[in-house]
Amino acid sequence: MYNNNELKSVTLTTLRDLKSRGEKIACLTAYDATFANLVDKSGAEIILVGDSLGMVIQGNKTTVPVKIEDMIYHTKIVASSINYSFLISDMPFMSFYNESVAIDNAKRLMQDGGAQMVKLEGNNSQLNIIEKLANSDIPICAHIGLRPQSVNKMGGYKVQGKSSTEAKILIQEAKKIEDSGADLLLLECVSAQTAMELSKKITIPIIGIGAGPEVDGQILVLYDILGISPGKLPKFSKNYMDGNNTIEDAIKHYIHEVKTLKYPTDEHSFK
Ligand code: KIV
Repeated sequence: MYNNNELKSVTLTTLRDLKSRGEKIACLTAYDATFANLVDKSGAEIILVGDSLGMVIQGNKTTVPVKIEDMIYHTKIVASSINYSFLISDMPFMSFYNESVAIDNAKRLMQDGGAQMVKLEGNNSQLNIIEKLANSDIPICAHIGLRPQSVNKMGGYKVQGKSSTEAKILIQEAKKIEDSGADLLLLECVSAQTAMELSKKITIPIIGIGAGPEVDGQILVLYDILGISPGKLPKFSKNYMDGNNTIEDAIKHYIHEVKTLKYPTDEHSFK
């Protein structure tokens, strides 16, 4: 099991080193001080203040209603409660619709919230924005594949990259995003085969959620792994309270399974 007491804080360099050594990167979401502190001291390399807070904290049906002020509020709380993990904060729906709005909101997440990197749900139409942020020394995680902020446009939550045409488009998109200056990629709900092919073409670390085992790290929503999210657990997730007596043990068990390649299995992946 992992214990971060004597370890130096994680940086982008740490994440790149982990990738080059082939050691998996363990990531979780957190939105408040108590859970963030537990995740941090359990040794997760990345904490994401995800806009999933719109659903699990605010009780909305989607992430669309989340505002930049909500993200700053939760990011600030998490930033002040952690010492080890690298902190990424989500840019919510419509907070990056042009370059100047994106710069302004990324600046707020970093300066007012304390984020070390911002994540945006992007595709080919955001390349100019990614380039602008990167040229302003703002570290970027680009979230591709299933993009929950686009649920209304996409017509539901669907697995991406299933056909060979879709796979080709996704891989080209990832390459352009990398070339535009993104530092990390987050791949959500992508066929495991496509994720594996994509990861061979990309040099920046790739974190997956429902993207199979052949990526550089895994992320899950904390409340899902604690079995407290309302409704059915997504196929790609796993309830780590099963067989563990405490929340801390459940978090450490998840990190251990990511590191030792026991999570995810075929059961948590899409064809
Ligand atoms: O908002 C979020 O928590 C996310 C994760 C599901 C990756 O984007």
